[in-house]
Amino acid sequence: MALNNHSLDEKAKNTRPMVYITRKESFSASHRLHSAKLSEEENRSIFGKCNNKNGHGHNYTVKVTVCGPADPITGMVMNLTDLKKHMESVLQPLDHKNLDMDVAFFADTCSTAENVAVYIWNNLSKLLPKGLLYEVKVNETGKNSARYRGERVS
Ligand code: NI
Repeated sequence: MALNNHSLDEKAKNTRPMVYITRKESFSASHRLHSAKLSEEENRSIFGKCNNKNGHGHNYTVKVTVCGPADPITGMVMNLTDLKKHMESVLQPLDHKNLDMDVAFFADTCSTAENVAVYIWNNLSKLLPKGLLYEVKVNETGKNSARYRGERVS
């Protein structure tokens, strides 16, 4: 026991704890799930009521998690006021918009919760200190959500 405590102390002396902090914001938008690469019938079959021609709306909530060592002086991974400001600047162009018609990214990319998470990640990662962004979680409804951590596959 004493040995374990000793090695833990040694480790703590040379390292800093990595901490995850999360901020939640929200926005409201309309959209339609529809792919120009699919036929009308395929779109209806795959997307169901989300393919409704005149669209539908969601109150989205977005949880952004950043990860890093807590600063020894401030005790902060990053100032949540700055994270809030950056999230607002990324989400503001989506708020009270039709995602498919008003946001260029979704002109040829299906506005699923998955792709909304990717869009937010891509834009937020440009604003945050390098390597700090850990996860973007988008809740489209109380029941459906998508998480993106910047991972890619070929
Ligand atoms: Ni929808």
